[in-house]
Amino acid sequence: MPDQKIKAILEAAVKIEEQSYELYKMAQKKVDYLSSQKFLGELAQEEIKHKEKLLAIIENRRKIAELGESISIQDLKLVDIMKDVPLAKDADYQKILIYAAKREKITHDYYQSLALGLENTDTGNLFSKLAQEELIHKNRLEREYDDYILKEN
Ligand SMILES: [Fe+2]
Ligand SMILES: [Fe+2]
Repeated sequence: MPDQKIKAILEAAVKIEEQSYELYKMAQKKVDYLSSQKFLGELAQEEIKHKEKLLAIIENRRKIAELGESISIQDLKLVDIMKDVPLAKDADYQKILIYAAKREKITHDYYQSLALGLENTDTGNLFSKLAQEELIHKNRLEREYDDYILKEN
């Protein structure tokens, strides 16, 4: 794949990570539980780390850092059957969690397809790792959704 194209892909991924960060910062303001706020803060930080990783690689392609071992993540598939709805301005926390978990799934699938297209390259390995981490986010959001429903009802 031409270098310019890889750069464009990496830059698009930076945008995705920025939007994920914004989503979690916004969600933080919608929930009163401190534990939930802390949880969202952690997710926001992880998206920032993803962004920084991507930016570092745009700067220096050889900088694809130690990616660590692959781990397998369980996809709880809790939100998969729920209807896709755009995020309304006045969406409550529960709706945001569903939206965010679905968005993590879409991001996972997108990164996974990039990883396959770039198989056996450093960039491909990077996207494979990022895809896994987005699936972890989905899993954590689905658990949060479950916990929140229990607490509220
Ligand atoms: Fe991310
Ligand atoms: Fe994520």
